[in-house]
Amino acid sequence: MVDVPWEQLFEAAELARQRAHAPYSKFHVGAVILCDDGSISAGCNVENASYGLTVCAERNAVGGMVLGGKKPVAVAIVVDSREPTPPCGMCRQVLAEFGAPTLPISSRTVSGTVAKWTIAELLPHAFTRSFL
Ligand code: THU
Repeated sequence: MVDVPWEQLFEAAELARQRAHAPYSKFHVGAVILCDDGSISAGCNVENASYGLTVCAERNAVGGMVLGGKKPVAVAIVVDSREPTPPCGMCRQVLAEFGAPTLPISSRTVSGTVAKWTIAELLPHAFTRSFL
């Protein structure tokens, strides 16, 4: 079991959040994946005038992780909302592609409220490659 440096991950996720391109929703999200070699991959949400092209912070962080040939050990999310928000359904499916069912995902508001789940809690009965 890895000792996850959540504080450091949240700090990096907050920096990513500050880079979000979210002029439409104004909902800025930062996400950081701690990878199996100890490196991190960060992402922010990137919106578009063609709204449906928006990519969430979590999936943008997955892109960097894949580019590095790494696997996820933990995911930290920072949002500026009343309560910590879990990843959307699309991001859950994408995270489940790479993470163990026990992959921990923690979300924190800018004011410091934290919530924590595993990917299996967020996406029970995931569709995975084992069905193919
Ligand atoms: N968003 C994320 O970046 N991650 C999530 O898990 C939920 C939603 C973004 C997408 C959009 O830019 C904004 O938040 C509002 O939905």
